[in-house]
Amino acid sequence: MNPPKTYPIDCSNRELTSVDSLQVLPKYKDELEGILISGGEVKSRLKALRAEISAYYEQFISEGEKEIEVIGFPLLGGAMYFYSTLIVGEFDKVCFPQVLGLTSSYDGTNSTGKINRGGYSLKELQALKGKRVLIIEDIVDTGLTLKETEDWVHQFSPLDVKICCLLDKTLGREVKMESDFTGFTIPNEFIVGCGLDLEGRYRDLGHIAVLKKEYQ
Ligand code: IMP
Ligand code: MG
Repeated sequence: MNPPKTYPIDCSNRELTSVDSLQVLPKYKDELEGILISGGEVKSRLKALRAEISAYYEQFISEGEKEIEVIGFPLLGGAMYFYSTLIVGEFDKVCFPQVLGLTSSYDGTNSTGKINRGGYSLKELQALKGKRVLIIEDIVDTGLTLKETEDWVHQFSPLDVKICCLLDKTLGREVKMESDFTGFTIPNEFIVGCGLDLEGRYRDLGHIAVLKKEYQ
């Protein structure tokens, strides 16, 4: 069954907000071109995204069952921030009992599309058989990372695999890849904040911002 229609907020032609209009960590101010999405808007969109995700999974709850189990699969490290904010304490009937994460790799501002599959025993991976899996990504750009992850997860015969992304750079796509639940669509710029980094920096910035070219 297809998930219900989702409603990403389109920020692809949006004017940036000045870093002086919002509270921004002083250490980052000079490095940012401007704010694309405020932390408040991210929070508000996450609320609606949870409702979309709940509506999808709750349709599978059969009579007599109280909840449905979904295996969360965040692509680390950026999506870890998004994933925990999205789920911890927030769902009533969908439970996320176990997390399997994978690390994606990005070389500076370029995607390598490679994932690091290490760290899991065959037993843990075989436990995905017959389960519902929700892959969580902070941002989809070329689509290579998610494509590789999705293909890999399918090898373990899950019942259902869905993808949830906070941000979608639709113009960056090199392979066909669609997220089932998407927070925002954004322009083809290098962005940071809310878990997104450039070589480990900016993850703690509370907004989603465009990085100045000279810092990329
Ligand atoms: P893809 O394989 O090109 O779709 O890239 C996905 C990965 O690239 C994401 O997991 C991010 O870690 C990283 N990425 C893509 N665009 C950006 C960006 O604008 N800022 C920070 N990381 C990015
Ligand atoms: Mg990532």
